[in-house]
Order: sequence, then C-alpha cells, then structure tokens
Amino acid sequence: MKKIRIGMLGLGTVGSGVVRIVEGHQEDLQRQTGAELVLSKIAVRDINKSRKVTVDPALLTEDPWEVINDPEIDVIVEVMGGVEQTKEYILAALDKGKQVITANKDLIALHGPEILAKAAEKRCDIMYEASVAGGIPILRTLVEGFSSDRITKIVGIVNGTTNYILTKMTQEGASYEDVLVEAQRLGYAEQDPTSDVEGFDAAYKMIILGSLGFHVHLSLNDLDIRGISKVTSDDIASAKRLGYTIKLLGIAERQDDLISISVQPTMVKDSHPLASVNGVFNAIYVYGQAVGETMFYGPGAGDMPTATSVVADLVAVTRNLLTGINGSRSSMIMNEKKLKSDEQ
Ligand code: NDP
Ligand code: HSE
Repeated sequence: MKKIRIGMLGLGTVGSGVVRIVEGHQEDLQRQTGAELVLSKIAVRDINKSRKVTVDPALLTEDPWEVINDPEIDVIVEVMGGVEQTKEYILAALDKGKQVITANKDLIALHGPEILAKAAEKRCDIMYEASVAGGIPILRTLVEGFSSDRITKIVGIVNGTTNYILTKMTQEGASYEDVLVEAQRLGYAEQDPTSDVEGFDAAYKMIILGSLGFHVHLSLNDLDIRGISKVTSDDIASAKRLGYTIKLLGIAERQDDLISISVQPTMVKDSHPLASVNGVFNAIYVYGQAVGETMFYGPGAGDMPTATSVVADLVAVTRNLLTGINGSRSSMIMNEKKLKSDEQ
C-alpha cells in the first residue's frame, strides 16, 4: 500500500488531536484513501515537554525547517500558529511541491491570496477547513454545497472561547477572568487570548467566510470589530431581564456590490436559536438567494473537533495525491478580486 508521509508543525492542542485521529482511525482512513498515512516528523518548540499524546521521540525536532526540507514528506500539516514566520514555512513547503493543510485562520485571513497563488503556481493543495468553526465542515459546504447559489448573508457565532465565557457568565454568574482561564486550560483559546476576547479571531474567520461566500478578497480594513472584554455582568443581567442573550456575532452581508462585515457583542432574542448556542459550540447561518435560510451547528474549538477537520483535509489531499490532481481543486480558492471600495 502506498505510504503518504506527513510532516507536522506543532503538537499542541490541535496537533495532539491529529495524531490521535490519524493513529486511532488509521484503518478507516486507509479504506477511504487506499494509502497508509504515516507521521514522519513533528516540529515543536521544546522536545522535552510532556505531551498529551505519546509519539516516538525520534519523530520530534525543534527545527521546523527539518520538516519542510525533508524530501520524503508529502504533506505538511501546520498546527503551530503564528503569522509571518509560519507564512515563510508554508510558502517554502509549497515551493518544494508539498501539499499543505493548516488550521491557522490568522495566516489565511491575512495572507490567503499570496499563499493560494503560490499553491496554484506549484499545482499543490492548500486546505484550511479547520481554520473556521473547528469541527463544522463549513468551508467545503460554502464553496461546494452553495456553489449554485448567490449567498447574501452569513451570520454566526464563530469563536468558541468567547461563547464559552458569555455562556458561563450568563448561566452561572461566573467572572469573565475565571472563565477565560478555564477556556485556556481547555485548549479553546488562542496562544494570545486577546485575539479571542477582542474579536480578532472571529474577524479572521468572517474574512475567510465572506471571501469564500461572496467571491471577493476581504481584509481586516473592511471590518468593524468589537470583542467582549467590555461586556459586564450588569450588561448580561439587563439583557436577560429584557428577554435577550448577549452573543458575539459575526455578520457578513452583501447588497448588490456592497459588502459589510462586523464582529460585535449583540443582543439576541431568547427565542432565536442563536441564543441557545452555548459553551464552546458555534453556529453559522448561511442565507442564499435560492436556498433561503440554512444553519450549521457544532463544536467550534478544542482538540478532537478541530482535528476532525484537519484530518478530513488530509483525506482529501491524499486522494488527490493518489490520482495526481493536486492543485486542480478550485473549491477552496479565494477570489483575488478586490472589493469595489478597494479599487477606488
Ligand atoms: P498550541 O499552543 O496548543 O500548540 C502549538 C504547537 O506548536 C505546540 O506544540 C508548540 O510546541 C508548537 N510551536 C509553536 N511555535 C513553534 C515554533 N516556532 N517552532 C516549533 N514549534 C512551535 O496551539 P493550538 O493547537 O491550540 O493551535 C494551533 C493552531 O490551530 C493555531 O493556528 C490556532 O489558531 C488553530 N486552531 C486552534 C483551535 C483550538 O481549538 N485550539 C481550533 C481551530 C484552529 P511546544 O508544544 O513544544 O510548545
Ligand atoms: N480560539 C478559537 C476559538 C479556536 O475559541 O474559537 C477555534 O478556532
């Protein structure tokens, strides 16, 4: 059986989940792909750190270039985070003809077009399903499931950490600070949780959703962003008395050629399904001109849900490798056309 060799960058929350699924579901993965998925090398910051999963210590290196430059490795799975240095690793991997999978929304939202252009030039796959809404396969659904429709609006709870915090503050009267620490311990929060609580993580995800849904290239400048750090227990209690729940919502809308995107704490009527999306769960409404209203719901962060999306990308990449069609897949491609406002 053909072996597909995987090089990983990162073995933290998501990386550990990837190892567990690749090892635990190996037989099913082989049946689906016709290939054996082999973890060949893993870059970490500290090879001596104790880990959530047991891996052969010989696989570990503290030098990501050892992974990128290994000629045996077919696929790079980037689950370490970071932007500028990580972009260098990914561009170098694509230059060497390796397929790339990433869970990194910051990177894709900020440098998606450049990375996707490199992948297209090298006829390599770049897949990033895990970058938005953890375990919900929303990106494939957007670009494949809705390809026949004209998407007019995308609204959702796309950050697990802030939804976890708001839920605990609302239901248990817990303190913002305590719940944030808990969310970090559970592996939901980013390395720098400012990105979660100030709305940037949700903004990056809305950039990706909006770019794929509306076929334009969006950037942070196009967004109005507010996080939850200033939401107080009093705000939550007042909303509750009026029959509302406060949620951090991402809203992307297009009317004719005008696109507006925002991330902000929003009062959601208690009777609306979004008010009942609790804890680390995410939910995304997609409105299409033809289909009308659809809703997608599931865990938005955490090791195993996120790893499910990463390994689904791995299955897709492996199938492409075996049939030799890497890079021909247009479904995850972000259009580089700028917004009208950018062109003026
Ligand atoms: P963690 O902090 O848990 O893990 C990061 C891993 O990368 C660690 O193993 C760390 O090594 C390694 N690493 C970091 N910097 C370097 C470096 N310079 N060189 C070598 N190794 C390095 O992060 P997560 O797993 O939570 O997140 C990873 C990515 O996935 C991020 O882009 C995040 O945004 C994204 N993501 C996370 C989700 C989640 O629920 N956590 C959900 C969806 C996406 P060491 O272990 O030695 O410190
Ligand atoms: N920090 C992110 C969140 C991880 O809480 O949603 C999932 O992208």
